[in-house]
Amino acid sequence: MAARILLLVLLSFTTTLIHAYDPSPLQDICVADLKSPVFVNGRVCKDPKLAKADDFFFEGLDKPGNTSNNVGSKVTPVFVDQIAGLNTLGISLARIDFAPYGENPPHTHPRATEILTVIEGRLYVGFVLSNQNNNSLITKVLNKGDVFVFPIGLIHFQANIGHTPAVAIAALNSQNPGVITIANSIFGSNPPISDKILAKAFQLDNKVIDYLQAQFWVDP
Ligand SMILES: *[C@@H]1O[C@H](CO)[C@@H](O)[C@H](O)[C@H]1NC(C)=O
Ligand SMILES: *[C@@H]1O[C@H](CO)[C@@H](O)[C@H](O)[C@H]1NC(C)=O
Repeated sequence: MAARILLLVLLSFTTTLIHAYDPSPLQDICVADLKSPVFVNGRVCKDPKLAKADDFFFEGLDKPGNTSNNVGSKVTPVFVDQIAGLNTLGISLARIDFAPYGENPPHTHPRATEILTVIEGRLYVGFVLSNQNNNSLITKVLNKGDVFVFPIGLIHFQANIGHTPAVAIAALNSQNPGVITIANSIFGSNPPISDKILAKAFQLDNKVIDYLQAQFWVDP
């Protein structure tokens, strides 16, 4: 028994050691050269001598995003494409605006865990564990000042349950977390996934799938 516990402890150490997400930087700064045609894991660095304060700067996160769309939310990203100096640093953030009763629909970030804080309003949020964990749904109502975590890769959502706008700030442990909005990926792929495939997967009639595929899937 003691040997088994020791083995588990050792295993947990080795796994935590291997699991970092974005790779660690090998230099002080690696400001992304966003114009480089070279494909690498991340972005090519520009000469550190050419780095300037604006490479590490973004302004305007005080401005609300335009939530006039079908889902009633808008994400303003501050990722490596917005701050070139984030390249190789494994961190980023976003502002999320919600119209009254608007939602940030079910989606996943393939490369990041998200930690979100509510700045204004009241949100109902949740994420779903994987098949292996019974697809358990974990939800919470968040008020101003509350913080909630969405573990990497898991499908999650946030919805404004108040009749006034809501605002949240989310931090993510990747310079480029990626977003897969479930409905968009499934019903809005280019070209469309065969309706026969989706009809069987969702246990729906082909016509319902055709209807869903004809909708405009907004990327909030
Ligand atoms: C917000 O977006 C809608 C729909 O695209 C557009 O009609 C409207 O002018 C935008 N409002 C602002 C303030 O930009
Ligand atoms: C899985 O979820 C169902 C439906 O909520 C529940 O009845 C069942 O007890 C859960 N099983 C486990 C092993 O958690």
